[in-house]
Amino acid sequence: MAKAKTIFFCKECGYESAKWMGQCPGCKEWNTFVEEPAAKTGGGRTAGRRISKTAAKPAYLAEISIEDHDRMPTGFQELDRVLGSGIVAGSLVLVGGDPGIGKSTLLLQVCRNLALSGKKVLYISGEESLKQIKIRANRIGEMKGDLSFLCETNLDIIQGVIEGEHPDVVIIDSIQTMFREEISSAPGSVSQVRESTNLLMQTAKGLGIAVFIVGHVTKEGMVAGPRVLEHMVDTVLYFEGDRSDTYRILRAVKNRFGSTNEIGVFEMRESGLQEVSNPSEFLLSGRPKDASGGAVACLMEGTRPILLEVQALVTATNFGMPRRTAAGTDYNRVNLLMAVLEKRCRYEMSRYDAYVNIAGGMRMNEPALDLAIVLALVSSLKDKPIDPKTVIFGEVGLSGEVRGVSMAEQRVNEAQKLGFETCILPRICLDKLKKTDGIRLIGVETIREAIDAMAG
Ligand code: TYD
Ligand code: MG
Repeated sequence: MAKAKTIFFCKECGYESAKWMGQCPGCKEWNTFVEEPAAKTGGGRTAGRRISKTAAKPAYLAEISIEDHDRMPTGFQELDRVLGSGIVAGSLVLVGGDPGIGKSTLLLQVCRNLALSGKKVLYISGEESLKQIKIRANRIGEMKGDLSFLCETNLDIIQGVIEGEHPDVVIIDSIQTMFREEISSAPGSVSQVRESTNLLMQTAKGLGIAVFIVGHVTKEGMVAGPRVLEHMVDTVLYFEGDRSDTYRILRAVKNRFGSTNEIGVFEMRESGLQEVSNPSEFLLSGRPKDASGGAVACLMEGTRPILLEVQALVTATNFGMPRRTAAGTDYNRVNLLMAVLEKRCRYEMSRYDAYVNIAGGMRMNEPALDLAIVLALVSSLKDKPIDPKTVIFGEVGLSGEVRGVSMAEQRVNEAQKLGFETCILPRICLDKLKKTDGIRLIGVETIREAIDAMAG
């Protein structure tokens, strides 16, 4: 008997290879290759069907109507903004995130809102029983409208149900539990996840149904990660946050119908997720008074300015090698900024350990953060607190110059709205700003000037 053919797949990104490899050439991850039976060719979507060669007909764009009601609001403004003003009919949205972060909860709440607004919604769970769903639903609130549930993992059956029911929105929770009979590998394997998504895509596009797919992010274990299907879906959202903390951030990493810079902020409460429409307030809450090493920065997330605190702790190093860590921002960027401080301002940073942290569990890599990191480091080094009513933003270059950043006006306005009195910003941005009352603007050209401005 001929040996069954197998193929190796990367669990992270789905890269295919005939032999096992230690490092994936696609995503550069180590040890991610798994062996799976090769998918049959010639079967699949056209098997058993006679195809007429004249079946397909091209269309003109002018013939296609796009109406406003093709976008369905989800009842969460935070989610609508991330999606690009609501759910698009016929789109496939992947919601990824660590297990237990709140993906099922968020989608169940979305289902509830959609059903309340008169949409027909079908929630298909391969992970939980109807009883478990009901327990969760009871925490969230009363369910009304046309919202039904199905516990099933066989996608061929699911496809039949979707075609029969023809709902407006379908939730698949989670893709890693779904399987197709014609694929011989186990649910969660790369070929299953891929083929399942393929089938869902055809169903969604064919019937004009919006489909949300839940995908667990797995560092280890035998299931394929959501990255395997990122390229197949229209929109990829990641739900992030510290599980021990109550705040959750929804981020779009791909969006065919909107911007990918937007984030949505939620808080996990006893009764489900609650949107946080002013994230700056929560990010700045609990700021220590008169502590050195804290600087408030103003960053842009898409179209929305966000204020947050950068904390730095600089202590004399006990060993020859200084320790540096960066939580919530780029480690190499912090090293670079310390080298600039050392060279341009003659601070002996190499004699100190430095720890930099973005408070509130946010991850930020905007260049405008640079100046706040620099000033937080200097404040901690000198043990001199920065005035708590000062906000700082600006990019720092290698010669210690402070470079301009975009959307200075929005940043200053947000700072003013939250009661800040002083703003240290790149000098070049000053010219673009209209006269602002109520907030003192200090334009700086170099980090030296910024350090002087910080001292008052
Ligand atoms: P869940 O949505 O099951 O996560 P996922 O689908 O991403 O795996 O989230 C479960 C967590 O959320 C669990 O730790 C309990 C918590 N939770 C609340 O704090 N409040 C609630 O109202 C609900 C429904 C869950
Ligand atoms: Mg879940």
